Amino acid sequence: MIRFENVTKRYPDGTTAVHDLSLEVAEGELVTLVGPSGCGKTTTMKMVNRLIEPSSGRILLDGEDISAVDPVELRRRIGYVIQQVGLFPHKTVLENTATVPYLLGWSKAERRERAAELLQLVGLDPARYGDRYPDQLSGGQRQRVGVARALAADPPVLLMDEPFGAVDPVVREHLQTEFLKLQSTLHKTVLFVTHDIEEAVRLGDRIAVYGDGRIEQFDPPAKVLGAPATPYVADFVGADRGLKRLSVTPIERGDLEAPPVVHLDDPLDKARARMRADGARWAVVLDDADELHGWLSAEAAGATGGDGAEGATAQDETAAPVTVADHARRMEAWLPLGAPLKQAFSSMLQHDAGWIAVLDEADRFVGVLTPSRLHEALRRSIDADERDVSRGEVELETVADA
Ligand SMILES: Nc1ncnc2c1ncn2[C@@H]1O[C@H](COP(=O)(O)OP(=O)(O)O)[C@@H](O)[C@H]1O
Ligand SMILES: [Mg+2]
Repeated sequence: MIRFENVTKRYPDGTTAVHDLSLEVAEGELVTLVGPSGCGKTTTMKMVNRLIEPSSGRILLDGEDISAVDPVELRRRIGYVIQQVGLFPHKTVLENTATVPYLLGWSKAERRERAAELLQLVGLDPARYGDRYPDQLSGGQRQRVGVARALAADPPVLLMDEPFGAVDPVVREHLQTEFLKLQSTLHKTVLFVTHDIEEAVRLGDRIAVYGDGRIEQFDPPAKVLGAPATPYVADFVGADRGLKRLSVTPIERGDLEAPPVVHLDDPLDKARARMRADGARWAVVLDDADELHGWLSAEAAGATGGDGAEGATAQDETAAPVTVADHARRMEAWLPLGAPLKQAFSSMLQHDAGWIAVLDEADRFVGVLTPSRLHEALRRSIDADERDVSRGEVELETVADA
């Protein structure tokens, strides 16, 4: 959709801001361009809407060489959001949002309707905010108006140059979340510039790591974090890249452990026998709808002692038979397959649990993730990325059990 072919930009003073750049952003893809200040990100972006002309090479939009397209016409196909937002201070939020429809000659009624729809889309109530002026909004709200305005004429392409750079971290995270939600329905082709690796990782389908006008690595976030292509990239993504990577590595079936599964209404001796046979210290307990109820420890089931059943398991012949339900503990923490490992980790901490149940799309229990399985999943996925194979194909050398 956006294709750079050997693009170089040399400024008149001799600064080469972009060196021989070749890069392709696929239709509907969100590519983040990340790198330190002064590495050529803005220059790259401005060449796409012809605010800056390349010194050599060419840029194609949907297969068409943009140097042959009238810049004004070109910009109507490209939404542009920048950090300073650039809202017109003397125009209302509705008018600002409708800037492009206005230029396109839409009627006043059409413009208002479209602007209201967009404000709603970015989470601003048009009735409440539509008639305000930009200086009556918070930084985060202004940024939302900037996004709404860029989307007004429904352009297929969005260029975003550090759009959330000026707001505080909490608001930024909100804006990122909202933008991801928006993108999951709009599927724009987006080139998103940031100097913040966290933002790049969170938003990008792929990340282009820039160093001094050149791409050092162009890969999905997990791969950039797990297998940095150069020492520069490793340094840029930071020493805590393993931790960052947890948030972009999904839980897969192969990562899970399969503890014994028992049901609430199973007789306790049957559960005990299962656990003994497996040498398991605990079992997952499901209810009669096969939904997660919690767990049963081997101790509570009396499966730890010798042959003689004791304590909890001693049964009074006259009483109702003891079932799993009598000794199971509640534990309702679970995650869907595909959730990031980081969520599993934080869920374990939150519930002070040594495992977390994982359910499939139909909410059926598939297995559990334990801290050691989580660690393995991370190592496996890093290794898989380094070798360009799938995670399931990786055989781990086990660190000797102490
Ligand atoms: N109009 C210009 N004339 C000369 N040099 C420029 C101009 N604009 C940017 N530069 C230089 O080009 C390099 C890349 O700038 P820029 O694309 O703005 O980087 P970034 O957006 O990554 O911070 C920097 O060294 C900057 O000083
Ligand atoms: Mg810049």
